Amino acid sequence: MSKTTVNQSATVKENLADTEQHYFNSYDHYGIHEEMLQDTVRTLSYRNAIIQNKDFFKDKIVLDVGCGTGILSMFAAKHGAKHVIGVDMSSIIEMAGRLVEINGYSDKITLLRGKLEDIDLPFPKVDIIISEWMGYFLLYESMLDTVLYARDKYLVEGGLIFPDKCSIHVAGLEDSHYKTEKLDYWQDVYGFDYSPFIPLVMREPIVDTVDNAAVNTSKNKIIEFDLNTVTLDDLVFSVPFKIISKRHDYINGLITWFDIEFPAPKGKKAITFSTGAHAPYTHWKQTVFYLADDLECEVGDVLEGQITSIPNKRNNRDLDITIEYEFKAEGVEKEERSKKNKNTYIMH
Ligand SMILES: C[S@@+](CC[C@H](N)C(=O)[O-])C[C@H]1O[C@@H](n2cnc3c(N)ncnc32)[C@H](O)[C@@H]1O
Repeated sequence: MSKTTVNQSATVKENLADTEQHYFNSYDHYGIHEEMLQDTVRTLSYRNAIIQNKDFFKDKIVLDVGCGTGILSMFAAKHGAKHVIGVDMSSIIEMAGRLVEINGYSDKITLLRGKLEDIDLPFPKVDIIISEWMGYFLLYESMLDTVLYARDKYLVEGGLIFPDKCSIHVAGLEDSHYKTEKLDYWQDVYGFDYSPFIPLVMREPIVDTVDNAAVNTSKNKIIEFDLNTVTLDDLVFSVPFKIISKRHDYINGLITWFDIEFPAPKGKKAITFSTGAHAPYTHWKQTVFYLADDLECEVGDVLEGQITSIPNKRNNRDLDITIEYEFKAEGVEKEERSKKNKNTYIMH
């Protein structure tokens, strides 16, 4: 059996900013990889997409950006790739080396440790890039920046990126009970007024599973990215949204999620998955933004506005998200029920 050795890191971790060190440390432990591997929607979508495209993978050079335990590299090698290069900055790549070796792929997979941006690949160009880079609200973690860097530097003309399409979606959510419980807690903490915490709690989006029955408006796709052409600038966005109430209820917040699509051979239906409340569980769950107002809605009332997402200045892996909204109630007590507001959030 040939051996897989992971050489010394091309990046000196201690030279990275604290936030970067912290980010890569978070992938050192096996627990986070266990969670990702056990997310069958995620992992099987990658495997199915590779199998669906095995004619394209045959004899190709593949780059796995952020290989973690090497699972995507091994899928690619197993299904025809000529050679796979897996790159990761975290120490988990040491384990990937052992896994590649004991599973018999040492001569097909090369593992390189370091930040992809600091590494010189053994091939000047690659035919395919595979990467699982998605974070909460799709863009949290900013790992897509690295995939775009790899695309621009290494991908051959006509090469494929797995996945290559993604979109963010929004809808309204009734969540009175949990919202009240979460905020009211700070009104009386062991008999003391802790209410100054409330604005801080409101600023944090919540990542959790949402019962689809609590989604009470139409859905709106607010943005989509084609990884073949998207640029870093496109990832900073301000887009309108418009959703329509489906029942007499309260809209206490907005639920957001993302959808993913892989390239498909001509004439074949693409492998896709959704992280929405209507879809099977994924470890990304959904991201909820509580609104300052609890909007009392009737069927057909319109909630529209603008969602802005900008990488945080201090740590560009965090996101500053602003939601401006105007709720236009119609019919009974429409003036009292109509609201206009602006909330800012930080995802960190
Ligand atoms: C979401 S995990 C995916 C792991 C694996 N591909 C899988 O599907 O299970 C992302 C991995 O990318 C690595 N990573 C993120 N940015 C990187 C960069 N700029 N250079 C090298 N590795 C990076 C992280 O250390 C982490 O292990």
